[in-house]
Amino acid sequence: MCRRSWRRRCASSTDSSWIGPCGCSASGWSWCRSSARFIAAPIARAARMLESMEFLAMVAHESDSGIVLARQQVGADFLGPGDVTIKVHYSSANYKDALAITPRGGVVRKYPIIPGIDIIGEVFATDVDDFAPGDLVVAHGYDIGVSHNGGFAEYARVPADWVVKLDTLNARDAAALGTAGFTAALSVQSLLDRGLTPDDGAVLVTGATGGVGSVAVDILSGLGFEVIASTGKTDAGDLLTELGANEVIGRLPEDPEAKLRPLGKAQWAAAVDSVGGKSLAYILSSIGYGGAVAVSGLTGGSDLPTTVMPFILRGVALLGIDSAYVPIDRRRELWTKLGKEYRPQHLSRLENYAPITDAEKVLRAIQGGTHSGRTILGVAGEF
Ligand SMILES: NC(=O)c1ccc[n+]([C@@H]2O[C@H](COP(=O)([O-])OP(=O)(O)OC[C@H]3O[C@@H](n4cnc5c(N)ncnc54)[C@H](OP(=O)(O)O)[C@@H]3O)[C@@H](O)[C@H]2O)c1
Repeated sequence: MCRRSWRRRCASSTDSSWIGPCGCSASGWSWCRSSARFIAAPIARAARMLESMEFLAMVAHESDSGIVLARQQVGADFLGPGDVTIKVHYSSANYKDALAITPRGGVVRKYPIIPGIDIIGEVFATDVDDFAPGDLVVAHGYDIGVSHNGGFAEYARVPADWVVKLDTLNARDAAALGTAGFTAALSVQSLLDRGLTPDDGAVLVTGATGGVGSVAVDILSGLGFEVIASTGKTDAGDLLTELGANEVIGRLPEDPEAKLRPLGKAQWAAAVDSVGGKSLAYILSSIGYGGAVAVSGLTGGSDLPTTVMPFILRGVALLGIDSAYVPIDRRRELWTKLGKEYRPQHLSRLENYAPITDAEKVLRAIQGGTHSGRTILGVAGEF
């Protein structure tokens, strides 16, 4: 098996064709015809360099006062197992990253860990043919940032079948989208797969100023849907209208104390919900005949106090959305679509930027419910 990344010109040679001892470069050494000797291939050099290198990371540690995120120099033992080493350009701030630094947050099994469920950057070294040094890539989900060191570091290493080559987006836009944007796209895709069209009626988006919600509003509006944005932030009307919401309403149900009816007035054709809990129960009872709810989150709670009525009397479907273990082919397809037909039209309006050293501050804002939109965490050059 030849490794494209080895096919480089030797600095001391004018010969650009490298031939390994068996006619390819798979042995780890390449034959340089002009100097008539075997020379370690660049990939082997990069791999050796990685084994001895040190780099900077934000590492989450458990302490008596909770979980702290500390800037730290780490060694190659912090690179997880995998065949693709990525020089990280960006990560981003997601709800799950906030849980990773929350005591009993339920997502990290063992500390210390480098959080960062999103890794966006360029391939630094690779053991597989599918990637070459310099390729722009995104990796997210699987165990990244929860049990496999993640994107809050200058370098990260992951298995090749967790990696998506960016073909329609630049690295910064991919970071602005991140896991939350991907989840929004997955939610929209699942509604479209069920046959939803703009002619069916309005689509509700809950947690509308959040990462999943804000990108969902933008994508749905770009696809021609009438979008109703539900938010708990009273000052978010202008933002959500600019993202494409036709109407902005408060959190649901309007009266959180009122007893829920098994079926209420049909108000929406479908919903993208990242809130869960009582809000989701209310939404299910208010979706029109044959409608669907794509549910991805639980910021409002994990209980679902509903009945079977919406399902058996209105044919409503509850579509579960999981971004972490989506098969890699579907994941790659969706990332391509995020740069084309699903490309949010107002990404610059919903994105914020912070250096990685401010990650803890941003994640605490997510925990406190004051964060809006998406925050890109700049890694390269920001330590
Ligand atoms: N299934 C998956 O693969 C997947 C992937 C990504 C995220 N998620 C989940 O989806 C949810 C949202 O993630 P995110 O990254 O978008 O988080 P986020 O950026 O922090 O947004 C969450 C939004 O939820 C709303 N919210 C917060 N507390 C609430 C409460 N007590 N009741 C009702 N609404 C509340 C707020 O929006 P408003 O102020 O506008 O109401 C907030 O901005 C999280 O539960 C996350 O774990 C799941």
